[in-house]
Amino acid sequence: MHDYNIIKFKTISSTNTYLKDNFESLPEFTVVTSDIQTGGKGRMGREWQSDEGNLYFSILLKNSVNKIKKNSISAITLIVGLAVTKVLNEYTSCMIKWPNDVLVGNRKICGILCEAISYDKVKALVIGVGLNLNQTTFSNEIKSKAISLKNIINKDSDKINILSKILKQFDLEYAKFCKGDKGYIAQLNKFSYLNNKNAYIKGENVKILGIDDNGLLKVEARDGVKLVTSGEVTLTDTYEVTK
Ligand code: BTN
Repeated sequence: MHDYNIIKFKTISSTNTYLKDNFESLPEFTVVTSDIQTGGKGRMGREWQSDEGNLYFSILLKNSVNKIKKNSISAITLIVGLAVTKVLNEYTSCMIKWPNDVLVGNRKICGILCEAISYDKVKALVIGVGLNLNQTTFSNEIKSKAISLKNIINKDSDKINILSKILKQFDLEYAKFCKGDKGYIAQLNKFSYLNNKNAYIKGENVKILGIDDNGLLKVEARDGVKLVTSGEVTLTDTYEVTK
């Protein structure tokens, strides 16, 4: 296993921002955690509410991503999601909602924000994870969509223990990914929440077939099979849209 360089804060604006600001002087596989984030960031410019009790951390990847093709970068978010899912599955049944959420039932327990530092090619990657562990109540805005591990198992979890399990899993999966092993795709499909659901994506009603070999979403539209690269997926039928 890699030696992770772990930096712990009590309070910080955002663990992602910290790594983006300091990536040049920090070694690859630096992991920053904070008990509280005052400016936690979600996808699409949203806020990530970061009260005390949950796990907030970011991983810095540098040299290893220089060799990876740009179109495979988003697969790394999925590998982190897979690591989180495998660890949480020790406690409860959960699934990955492509491209970056982990759900229990229809509620989100974990969100992942991957930010690339690139000029002509990717120099570094910062992958931030917000995992609801010990928070029991959520703000009105998200309370119908969010869930924590404590909501499910009725007891507190040790943040550092969960973090080290996730890092161990990530290490295993990421090492295989860097060698070109695509085994993670089958595992992702096993845990994929969206598979076989009907959805509305970019103006079209589609059926979701699964996650393809490059980590893209394969969908069946009226005029054939297509690949979706990113963006919001709105589920139709009886399925709820998550945060
Ligand atoms: C999302 O689902 O919108 C992604 C949420 C990502 C939140 C994590 S918490 C640790 C890291 N630091 C941040 O500011 N954001 C990520």
